[in-house]
Amino acid sequence: MADKLIIFDTTLRDGEQSPGASMTRDEKLRIARQLERLRVDVIEAGFAASSNGDFEAVRLISQVIKDSTVCSLSRANDRDIALAAEALSSANSARIHTFIATSALHMEKKLRMTPAQVLEQAKQSVRFARNLVGDIEFSPEDGYRSDPDFLCRVLEAVIAEGASTINVPDTVGYAVPELYGNFIKNLRERIPNSDKAIWSVHCHNDLGMAVANSLAGVKIGGARQVECTVNGLGERAGNCSLEEVVMAVKTRKDYFGLELGIDTKHILAASRMVSQTTGFVVQPNKAVVGANAFAHASGIHQDGVLKARDTYEIMRAEDVGWTANKIVLGKLSGRNAFRQRLQDLGVQLDSESELNAAFARFKELADRKSEIFDEDVLALVADESVSLEQERFGFVSLSQHSETGERPRATVVFTSGTQELKGESDGNGPVDASLKAIESLVKSGAEMILYSVNAISGSTESQGEVTVRLQNNGRVVNGVGADPDIVVASVKAYLNALNRLQNKAIKVAAQG
Ligand code: KIV
Ligand code: ZN
Repeated sequence: MADKLIIFDTTLRDGEQSPGASMTRDEKLRIARQLERLRVDVIEAGFAASSNGDFEAVRLISQVIKDSTVCSLSRANDRDIALAAEALSSANSARIHTFIATSALHMEKKLRMTPAQVLEQAKQSVRFARNLVGDIEFSPEDGYRSDPDFLCRVLEAVIAEGASTINVPDTVGYAVPELYGNFIKNLRERIPNSDKAIWSVHCHNDLGMAVANSLAGVKIGGARQVECTVNGLGERAGNCSLEEVVMAVKTRKDYFGLELGIDTKHILAASRMVSQTTGFVVQPNKAVVGANAFAHASGIHQDGVLKARDTYEIMRAEDVGWTANKIVLGKLSGRNAFRQRLQDLGVQLDSESELNAAFARFKELADRKSEIFDEDVLALVADESVSLEQERFGFVSLSQHSETGERPRATVVFTSGTQELKGESDGNGPVDASLKAIESLVKSGAEMILYSVNAISGSTESQGEVTVRLQNNGRVVNGVGADPDIVVASVKAYLNALNRLQNKAIKVAAQG
């Protein structure tokens, strides 16, 4: 029987470190459920010691997730490790992932520690963690740029202390495939007890090679765990993309010869959920999950393309969750059809009241839009999960006037806590006027660093999905909003971003 390749998803930890991608506890839980449906082997749910919010997220995910191992990141110190163990205490299967930097640059400039001190701290931390949780992963941060002799000493020592997974991060995305693969291979050959651990790859995408490097780590290096994120979400240029690495190993089984536990038909729903939750839009030509990735799924129903499908497509669109018939629901669809569609899309709402609220929104949308697509349904429940959380600002109504040759004006009514406020302003365009109307009362002082509109299902009848990125006092947040009226979608996105700015939680950066 072929070896299994373990898929370790770190969307909720390393992915979340991307500025603006921070998620609330409930958003993380929703994504964790989708990852469980996808059957990822390990979910890195957060970094418990970094903030109360992350601690609570790891704790909640540990209580709910049954089939995947739940993992918390932890720096190599007793306090972090004890907090991680506490947050993971309800998990069916728990893992602590502890790390310390081992490159000369990081040890000297960041940690201000000698190699001997780092070696001692790594050993001591794994020993401490091993007494709390049975499954321990160790990462030498900036491992790929570390001195191989020193790295061998550290890794041999932590395996002896009980680390059962050794992860070798290319923290800064500097590796190239052949060299990275050989780096892992050499470590495994030189370390006497290397067979006592599963070897893992963790690659960043600064040179666009995270997936290629990870696959080389598997093929050349013999790694049997890949760390990755949905849509390749992550700081800077992101992490290794889950959907790409999974579909490469599955499609080229002839070459990799490895088994995967992943249920690939949930990939697209996971991609959309992550993109709608974080506001990080997926580029149309992105492999596997981009709108153009499969000709027939992107709406090109030319006979020739359909006939020639096998000639051009190396994967089946259905296998990753694309449906050939994108028109799913309409005005006359009932509650059961709606519930069924949610189930098919892999969305699980927690209670009947959540379902009722989502169904009411669906009816409202169906009154304004004749065909409801999968994308609309997903946007609708994403909106719903946002509004179920405690929010300060909420959308009530908008009126705006724009005419050629006149400066547009807008009036926005919105809630702020228990109060209802009415703001008015003019602006360069209707969106500008509407957001200025809100800002005239809220006075957040936030700077807008990104505004983008995306037609969810590709026609003018479609809902517009707006992402707004705000920056204030060093914090960056994304807000998302969807509506057939893009000015309303913009107002919702802006209020959503303001709500996120209210959440003052400061997190300790993992690589800080
Ligand atoms: O990139 C990195 O080095 C990390 C570690 C904390 C594993 O994310
Ligand atoms: Zn990383």
